[in-house]
Amino acid sequence: IKRITTHTLQEMKSRGEKISMLTAYDYSMATIVDGAGVDIILVGDSASNVMAGHETTLPITMDQMIYHASSVVRGVKRAFVVVDIPFGSYQGNSSEALRSAIRIMKESGAHAVKVEGGSEIKESITRILSAGVPVMGHLGLTPQSIYKFGTYTVRAKEKEEANKLIEDAKILEETGCFALILEKIPAKLAKKVAETVTIPVIGIGAGGDVDGQVLVVHDMLGITQEFKPRFLRQYADLQNIMTKAVQDYITDVKSKDFPNESESY
Ligand code: KIV
Ligand code: NA
Repeated sequence: IKRITTHTLQEMKSRGEKISMLTAYDYSMATIVDGAGVDIILVGDSASNVMAGHETTLPITMDQMIYHASSVVRGVKRAFVVVDIPFGSYQGNSSEALRSAIRIMKESGAHAVKVEGGSEIKESITRILSAGVPVMGHLGLTPQSIYKFGTYTVRAKEKEEANKLIEDAKILEETGCFALILEKIPAKLAKKVAETVTIPVIGIGAGGDVDGQVLVVHDMLGITQEFKPRFLRQYADLQNIMTKAVQDYITDVKSKDFPNESESY
């Protein structure tokens, strides 16, 4: 199997082939997502919500992200694996940003890191890139800044914020990011960004006129069901399927149907 690289992703944008990206946080899920053929696997700090049950992405630690990332890497044969640097491990301190990125690469075996923000973190991105670590950017509704926003509604609807987002996208490209995520912004603005920069632009809640799409895998599989934003397409109802399977098991244990003779030694 030929591995996906930053080079492959750039070629996909050039020939207009859309890039598919999903999250994964553990070995078993990574095996399924990679085996199905997704191009990029994101070990997102959404693990803080999905895996740990926190309300935001802020509490997850470097050690926890590295545990998730190393588990994912062991299950992946083809996809390009990107890992979120968690909140507090790169902002405002480029030395710490470099240290965090190197720890993630060394201890997990992942292929790139992702950071949230534009001009504010330019120095951190430059420093990480100086070590040869590919960086993915992330603009728009950046969840590590949720307390600054105070709301989960669409970002950059006003001209001022939209202009800053376009400027930030250009800065990320010039600084050397290999790709960038746009989260929950108007489709028209996302289209403009994807046309302006030459690096791949992956959207979540950013419409169809970008170079690829990303979703949280537990949301699109319907394992988590309390989170149902407009941008989410649910491809399965695994919560129902899993609940039913567990209920059947309980019934069989109680009724002594399980285990039967062929399931015993
Ligand atoms: O952590 C995450 O899952 C993400 C994606 C939603 C882009 O950052
Ligand atoms: Na994230």
